[in-house]
Amino acid sequence: MIHNESIETEIREFYIMKKLVIRGGKPLTGEITINGAKNSTVALIPAAILADSEVVLEGVPDIADVYSLIEILEDFNVKATFKDNVLTIDPTDIKSIPMPSGKIQSLRASYYFMGATLSRFGEGVIGLPGGCFLGPRPIDQHLKAFRSLGAKVEDDFGVVTLTTDQEGLVGARIYMDVVSVGATINCILAAVKAKGKTIIENAAREPEIIDVVNLLNKMGAKIRGAGTSVIRVEGVEHLHGCTHTIIPDRIEAGTYITAAVAAGQGVRVNNVIFEHIEGFIAKIEEMGAQLEIGEDSIYVHPSPNLRMVSVKTQPYPGFATDLQQPLTPLLAIAAGNGTIIDTIYPARVKHIPELNRMGADIKVEGAMIRVNGPAQLSGAQVKASDLRAGACLVIAGLLADGVTEITGVDHILRGYSNIVGKLRDLGADIEMIEVSEMQEA
Ligand code: EPU
Repeated sequence: MIHNESIETEIREFYIMKKLVIRGGKPLTGEITINGAKNSTVALIPAAILADSEVVLEGVPDIADVYSLIEILEDFNVKATFKDNVLTIDPTDIKSIPMPSGKIQSLRASYYFMGATLSRFGEGVIGLPGGCFLGPRPIDQHLKAFRSLGAKVEDDFGVVTLTTDQEGLVGARIYMDVVSVGATINCILAAVKAKGKTIIENAAREPEIIDVVNLLNKMGAKIRGAGTSVIRVEGVEHLHGCTHTIIPDRIEAGTYITAAVAAGQGVRVNNVIFEHIEGFIAKIEEMGAQLEIGEDSIYVHPSPNLRMVSVKTQPYPGFATDLQQPLTPLLAIAAGNGTIIDTIYPARVKHIPELNRMGADIKVEGAMIRVNGPAQLSGAQVKASDLRAGACLVIAGLLADGVTEITGVDHILRGYSNIVGKLRDLGADIEMIEVSEMQEA
């Protein structure tokens, strides 16, 4: 007779899990420098495949999403080298290859390869990741834009197949039913080599859109109006290589400024474009944060006695949804009652139960988050369910008494380059450890 225990041993295996361990309460001082913007980078890389010679991107953040995109480029037979934050992309020998599965499904921003392959080849097969932690993230406006430009679009459970007839893509007037960063950029990518003129109405106005348009115009595109709600694209036949420096990451800047308000004794955050985070700065100043705005840096003075505020996220230039989660620990420790309404992603609330495990008093009521402060946070074992929830828990850990252990670290590494090194340079007691965990095989 086979003993049950021996079977169990056989079907279990070990895997390595990363954890962030933070011993909170250490004052942060010194300076840090913000990287190039993740959400620009993930669009600029697919945009680069439209060139017929080498594109050099400078200021590329060293994050997991970039490595995933490099692997996807290689699958398209595009040469890419990445060193010292410079990414060189040579799409000269690019091939039209269907990508229903594989690395392409590892990140949401793969959707930019739909617009890019449609533009470059008049066709494409792109598999997208399924549901994610922010709640439903439809792409109907992307697909509507492609159809308006004359593409045939089939969406088979997340594998999008795009084709065009002999006439190819033809410019059109497109009204976006919702203000969408992704759909606006994807529409620009598809329209940039279409015949004639495309007008995008109700376009998103985020700085990342201006960045992508600046790259495309350097490559020879004719696009006007980026940064306003009407973008005009005059189709061109060829796009060529160029060199482009990526704008600073406004969400990374907002995250570190929040950390400095939460636990700082004087922190300078360098490489920030203040105008890109005006809505966020106004909100933390309303809370009592003491800031000094420089030309391209922000100095955060010690900011005790924070006041509670209410926050409503909006498309740019409103308060960014991506900073809602990182800001929540500050609200948790502020005196009074406040609310957070995320109008972009109402289900972006997975950080709340974790903060409550650390001693916060926060309730999710439908689409509203109610914060009762002030709370004294204390260390706990918590899980980052998505990138910005991870940033939120890191800030909470810096604030808390005792030790906080954060799992789900891979989400954080997708978007924050060298987060451990940067916070350590400021004096934080934070380390990333690897532990082996047992799981059922
Ligand atoms: N929407 C639709 N239909 C569409 C597209 C969007 O209904 O076809 C809705 C979405 O469900 C959402 C709203 O429109 O309610 C805005 O979504 P948007 O398309 O602007 O989001 P996205 O382009 O998919 C980017 C960032 C997100 C950021 C949002 C909002 C990238 C790769 N992602 O996503 O960043 O939260 O804009 O600013 O640029 C992050 O960095 O953590 C992150 C999630």
